Amino acid sequence: MEDNLISGAAGHEMMQDRPLPRHIAIIMDGNGRWAIRHGLPRVLGHREGVKALKPIVKECSRLGIEVLTVYAFSTENWARPAGEVNTLMALLEEFLDSETPELKAQGVSIRTIGDIGQLPVSAQAALARSRRDTANQSKMVLNLALNYGGRDELVRAVNRWLASQPLGGVLPALDVDTLAQHLDTAGLPDPDLLIRSSGEVRLSNFLLWQMAYAEIYITDVLWPDFTPEELQKAIAVFRMRERRFGGHS
Ligand code: FPP
Repeated sequence: MEDNLISGAAGHEMMQDRPLPRHIAIIMDGNGRWAIRHGLPRVLGHREGVKALKPIVKECSRLGIEVLTVYAFSTENWARPAGEVNTLMALLEEFLDSETPELKAQGVSIRTIGDIGQLPVSAQAALARSRRDTANQSKMVLNLALNYGGRDELVRAVNRWLASQPLGGVLPALDVDTLAQHLDTAGLPDPDLLIRSSGEVRLSNFLLWQMAYAEIYITDVLWPDFTPEELQKAIAVFRMRERRFGGHS
């Protein structure tokens, strides 16, 4: 995409003093296509997708990114064949069990967004262990979006707020800050940069509220091929963007 091109090394250098994104959100798309291109079953694409995630988490932590949110399983992904859903859940557990000590050593704390009460009990238990073991880490948050959908999150937030109101009274008007405080992302900064791999140009129900002013970077690279170098390219493009947040420069 033309908008994503970096205009030469000089331009790149000049942007080095611009701030990094505080929060990067990633739609890790293209695992299935990667597998098909390599003549492999789709589930092996997801396995490679998990492999690709590990160095990205490490690089974000090294760079000083405060929050990395990854779309690991959407509310719509339940519609996939049971075998694929089971593989994704098994990969999640494997990832948590094998990576938590390393994440802890990197100063990463694990958090989730989404309705995780619907995940298999063993996945919930693995998440609880990882959250507990990394609770005191403060360098970076790795935020896993699991059984997550932006619309579902908004509905749950409003219902949470309603449940917090006194019974029988007149409801006050709901405002932007109050709604934000009832979202799964409460307490986290909004994403500054959304990265989507595999060339699709859609939000796919990801962080609908929080993405209001995110810069969007789409790359044709399939997720299993997404490396820390690709992340650096996305950050370089982000640093070249003029962010106006609805105002003017
Ligand atoms: C999209 O690829 C990817 C997903 C639906 C799941 C993303 C999950 C992972 C990278 C692994 C699980 C993550 C953790 C944290 C354990 P796709 O299957 O839609 O690809 P396609 O569009 O090419 O078919």
